[in-house]
Amino acid sequence: MNEKNVLAILGSPHVNGITAAMYNCAIRKAEQTGYTVTKINLYEKNLSFCTGCRTCINTHICIQEDDIQEIVAILHESQTVILAAPVYWANVPAPVKNLFDRLLGTAMEETNTFPKPRLQGKKYILLTSCNTPAPFSWIFGQSRGAIRNMDEFFKTAGMKPIGKIVCSNAANKKELPEHIIKKIEKCFK
Ligand SMILES: Cc1cc2nc3c(=O)[nH]c(=O)nc-3n(C[C@H](O)[C@H](O)[C@H](O)COP(=O)(O)O)c2cc1C
Repeated sequence: MNEKNVLAILGSPHVNGITAAMYNCAIRKAEQTGYTVTKINLYEKNLSFCTGCRTCINTHICIQEDDIQEIVAILHESQTVILAAPVYWANVPAPVKNLFDRLLGTAMEETNTFPKPRLQGKKYILLTSCNTPAPFSWIFGQSRGAIRNMDEFFKTAGMKPIGKIVCSNAANKKELPEHIIKKIEKCFK
């Protein structure tokens, strides 16, 4: 693992959308700060659904051969992960959820009590956008649901959060507001 390597995952189908604007802002700042960023557009990847076979708990990696092996290799090389995904039904889009499922045994080990993390020492940044305006997006669980679900994966993997940033009321925003840019930029020192 190289502490200057960042894996940036775009979990939105819209490369010109507001989530992608947050993603690009984070990448720009990371690169300016001296990080080496590897970008993955999840919607361009070939990832079958998790079959729930649980073999990965022993092998540490999914046995279905597709783009998951490449993603896991980059993940192991990176200290920081940026995940940008819009709110879909107070949750994450299906490809993002499937990525978490496909990474089960990469992220954690099962025990008789609590899961044991397998990605300790790594960090993460969550970026999301939704149409519900603030504070309702948080109060009624829209952005909170997506953040909670992303958090569940990374926390269980033993990773530490650097930032969790929400751009609400996205349908009424043509570009990224200055306060969101500042919050994203603050994640990289
Ligand atoms: C299938 C689907 C479900 C959505 N569910 C929610 C939701 O639960 N709450 C919300 O506030 N916005 C919801 N939205 C709106 C998106 O979160 C919003 O348009 C987001 O900013 C899209 O990001 P993008 O620019 O990356 O496409 C949904 C959009 C889609 C397509």
